[in-house]
Amino acid sequence: MFPGEVFANTADFDTGIRQLLPRYDEMLDAIARCLPSTTKTILELGCGTGELSLKILKRCPDAQLVAVDYSPRMIQFAQKKLHAAGYAEWTGIEADFGDWANHALELGESFDACISSLAIHHLTHEMKLKLFQRIRESLNPGGVFWNADPILPESPAMQEIYQTAREEWTLQQGTTLAEIRDKIGKSNPQGYSGQDQLATLTSHLEMLTIAGFGTVAVPWKYYGLAVFGGFVG
Ligand SMILES: C[S@@+](CC[C@H](N)C(=O)[O-])C[C@H]1O[C@@H](n2cnc3c(N)ncnc32)[C@H](O)[C@@H]1O
Repeated sequence: MFPGEVFANTADFDTGIRQLLPRYDEMLDAIARCLPSTTKTILELGCGTGELSLKILKRCPDAQLVAVDYSPRMIQFAQKKLHAAGYAEWTGIEADFGDWANHALELGESFDACISSLAIHHLTHEMKLKLFQRIRESLNPGGVFWNADPILPESPAMQEIYQTAREEWTLQQGTTLAEIRDKIGKSNPQGYSGQDQLATLTSHLEMLTIAGFGTVAVPWKYYGLAVFGGFVG
């Protein structure tokens, strides 16, 4: 299994991730809401089973969305889902977005938006910065980048608070973390991604600023999960 696939069985992902992470839908909806309605070209990094793609295309049905994921089974699962939903032009590209960050892969150069959820935190901090720079370079004037990811707790006390919030959420879904963990598969490092390599929200915002984003923002946060990004110019 590749880092980020989470569940041993891909068909368990859509239910399992909603039990595991608080407010998954609200988090992804926040990204969709932050896309200008004029958005025409979108790059998605680490599309997984296509849940964010679906939300984005509902908001911007005429947009061209290029979705990247290095897991063949995730791409296949997403493609089937998006085509069944009527988005026949949705195309997934099987590739490592770390290669794109390093200019070893071309995905097109002028996007109005770049989006990602629950994927970039698998990169080292050095690669996160390179990726943010690559995203910045590939966005059109006025372009936006929004990423949803878990963040590194700011202190041991915050770690405990974030963990409790997750456990309470899972219990409210009528299950336990132990039950969900039974469905989680064991992944090995693949390409540029390894196990979780979390950074604090502050570090993410610093990296975005260094990468050249003119305005950086955090439109959504819930305990240890955040949507953050910025605008070009
Ligand atoms: C936890 S899933 C999230 C999927 C989807 N974005 C969502 O929010 O439901 C993370 C996805 O990122 C992909 N991924 C992780 N690192 C990657 C990399 N370096 N290049 C391409 N895909 C990657 C994994 O294969 C997985 O499908």
